[in-house]
Amino acid sequence: MSLNNEVLNCIHERRSTRRFTERQISSEQLDTLLDAAIWAPSGGNNQSWLFTAIQKKSVLLHLNKLVCEGFQRWVPDDDYPTKHAMKKRSSQEGYNFYHNAPTLIIASNKPNYENAMADCSLALQNIFLAAQSLGLGSCYINQLHWLRHDPDVRAYLLEMGIPREHTICSSAAVGFIDKESPAPVRKEGTIQIIR
Ligand SMILES: Cc1cc2nc3c(=O)[nH]c(=O)nc-3n(C[C@H](O)[C@H](O)[C@H](O)COP(=O)(O)O)c2cc1C
Repeated sequence: MSLNNEVLNCIHERRSTRRFTERQISSEQLDTLLDAAIWAPSGGNNQSWLFTAIQKKSVLLHLNKLVCEGFQRWVPDDDYPTKHAMKKRSSQEGYNFYHNAPTLIIASNKPNYENAMADCSLALQNIFLAAQSLGLGSCYINQLHWLRHDPDVRAYLLEMGIPREHTICSSAAVGFIDKESPAPVRKEGTIQIIR
């Protein structure tokens, strides 16, 4: 769908990128993404989120190692198929949970706050749309949320300044697109209008 409206085009054209080039995004681009994040709405105007951007490759690779190890210990708490598939995939050679993106932005929030996920998810969508508008690719990355109780992952995130009591809501992989993702078909029957 092509519309004469930049925001709506951005919404339609954003895709989850899973192949990035090695090129790092600029400081200005990172600042723009983080600024977009903090301008998201938040329940009761809490703004209790914390966005931690990691651009240091050695840190990202070490985090990936901890995630792979964490997944081996992790027991999925339900039958959600993606969780089981992810656990299996993480044991395979070359697995990288953030798709080797040069930048990973972790969204965490204060504990026992009912709107923690909602606030961080809205902020993440702002990041995704801002990335799209800058010609960058992005992807929602869930693994750190699933491993939010893993002691080794948490100890490393604590070293980065993410408070131990924070809940890890989600993260965004961002970078230049190496391979475009096709648009998944939108399912029928997910909208109803009562007039
Ligand atoms: C809550 C949530 C968790 C997701 N987790 C991941 C993930 O861990 N890794 C990944 O590659 N994509 C992840 N995605 C992206 C979805 O797979 C993607 O949005 C979906 O396939 C539709 O594709 P599109 O974003 O290109 O429209 C996640 C999306 C959401 C909303």
